[in-house]
Amino acid sequence: MGSFASVNGEIVPLHEARVPVLDNGFVFGDSVYEVLRTYNGRPFQSGRHFRRMRASADRLGIPVPATDGELLDQVRALLARADHVESYVRIVVSRGVGNSSYDFDTVVGPTVVMIQKELTPVSERQYEEGIRVCAVAVRRNHPRSLDPVIKSSNLLNNILAVREAKARGAEEAVLLNHEGHIAEGASTNVFVVNQGALRTPPLSAGILGGITREIVLELSPTLGVASREEMLTMDDLLGADEAFLSSTTREILPVRQVDESLIADGRPGPVTRKVMAAFREFALAHCD
Ligand SMILES: Cc1ncc(COP(=O)(O)O)c(C=O)c1O
Repeated sequence: MGSFASVNGEIVPLHEARVPVLDNGFVFGDSVYEVLRTYNGRPFQSGRHFRRMRASADRLGIPVPATDGELLDQVRALLARADHVESYVRIVVSRGVGNSSYDFDTVVGPTVVMIQKELTPVSERQYEEGIRVCAVAVRRNHPRSLDPVIKSSNLLNNILAVREAKARGAEEAVLLNHEGHIAEGASTNVFVVNQGALRTPPLSAGILGGITREIVLELSPTLGVASREEMLTMDDLLGADEAFLSSTTREILPVRQVDESLIADGRPGPVTRKVMAAFREFALAHCD
């Protein structure tokens, strides 16, 4: 049983994988990343992840030196070495190895790292009972500062949020944007349910375009559930009939309470359950 990583295509046991200390990813957080997962050992929606990774890299002027087919082959080669039933795969593309300066012309790169480890599933208890979140004081990065649509490995904004949420006994942080609207979780997108309809902040709220979020919005009409992308406040979350978070590793995760306040009766509601089941069904049927 072991985890593996590939560094520029070379696969080694995870704990032997090395990147030079002058890599811009290490020195400056000058890199982008994706996290994808497997279902039944097969990568889920790699095409969407690669598309988003290219868009992020493009915003930073980092070239991605492989086609989607080549990237998928590398992911598959990594998975073939691992003997975990389900894997988490983190792909990091950094600008490359520089000289600890903003002299980007001297950088030799990019560096492409893929990290495979066993997927830690969300506990059944969390799916059954929902989780506790809190609105943290730290605000989501302003889109004109470090646009959250860029899936950058510079995650200090998220780390500050998670530290604060954990200190307050919450399992996920909800970050507001600079205008006080709900942006997203530290590593999740936020949905509320009102009168049977889904509402989620639009990309213009300053969020990452989550792949799970995108799929939920695509699936909702097929479930007879209306969905709207609109600005939400904490009052909308606190007053919702139901709420849930979405992400690759947590799928659809009900929210039970915000700090001490329960959302409705504090139990995952019927629309959340419907979306959870539909998403899982979609995932199992749409792997690469
Ligand atoms: C800030 C942020 N928002 C949302 C998400 C959910 O995105 P996805 O559904 O693509 O995993 C993530 C995932 O890591 C994230 O980091």
